[in-house]
Amino acid sequence: MSSRRIFRPLLALLLISAAGVFSAAKAQTQPKTPDTMEARVQACAACHGTHGQGTDNDYFPRLAGKPADYLYNQLKNFREGRRKYPPMNYLVTYLSDDYLHQIAAYFSQQRPPYPPPAKPTVSSDTIARGQDIVLHGDASKQIPACAACHGKALTGMEPAIPGLVGLHADYISAQLGAWRSGSRHAIAPDCMHTIATRLTDDDVNAVASWLSTQTAPQNPVPAPARSMKTPLACGSEPQ
Ligand code: HEC
Ligand code: HEC
Repeated sequence: MSSRRIFRPLLALLLISAAGVFSAAKAQTQPKTPDTMEARVQACAACHGTHGQGTDNDYFPRLAGKPADYLYNQLKNFREGRRKYPPMNYLVTYLSDDYLHQIAAYFSQQRPPYPPPAKPTVSSDTIARGQDIVLHGDASKQIPACAACHGKALTGMEPAIPGLVGLHADYISAQLGAWRSGSRHAIAPDCMHTIATRLTDDDVNAVASWLSTQTAPQNPVPAPARSMKTPLACGSEPQ
């Protein structure tokens, strides 16, 4: 993704947001200012929405309803440089594990409505290819079905596999691209790195397009822990 394009208009936002985090951090040592979760997440609202529902910006992901350990792992990944997006890296630099746990738990419990599904902007062949990979994988290229880990309803699995519904196509392709290029890492063994490197550019475009056109299910909760045996080992997901 073009981080410069996103970064510049966001500097102003970032300064406001950072002020929120630091005043919340300060509030921990100065008991007179109330340190509520509402005050803490104000720093995140400009980009992720107050309830983590996401915004119209194609690169700002929905957080709401993703498993708490998944969100916590990502906040740590940003803090420790395994994921790179300067505003996020900066915001979490000085936050403790405990603080990150609490923010992660907050967003995992939010249930704001999903945005309407995107209208397909690619050919119907591409959409069909995307659906096929997500639901069935591609055995000829050793690509497992995405649904085998992200769940039949694509709402993820506890404790640390995220849902893939309600995300913009550009965000999904950017993340798969980041795994392929090595700028995003997960706890080893990094199953998503293995899978992303087996996908071609066309495959990435196809899965991202199909996923973004899906309607979220009525009850979008992640599948229970260990309810599916993952086809590859993932360091973040206990078997
Ligand atoms: C300036 C905009 C901005 C602000 C402010 C911001 N974020 Fe983010 N956040 C992003 C972007 C963009 C990404 C995706 C970055 C990437 O490409 O990896 C992201 C990713 C994340 C992720 C990973 C999501 C996933 O599904 O993998 C989490 C968790 C997160 N942010 C939490 C927060 C929290 C908590 C705050 C407030 C303390 C916050 N963010 C503030 C823009 C922002
Ligand atoms: C073997 C299990 C497994 C399979 C199969 C799998 N994933 Fe994942 N996926 C994961 C795990 C675990 C994570 C969380 C990684 C982390 O902690 O960063 C993840 C994260 C993701 C994310 C990041 C979401 C976000 O909010 O940033 C995307 C996008 C994704 N997977 C897409 C796919 C696609 C597309 C496929 C199919 C081609 C797929 N995955 C197949 C286990 C899997």
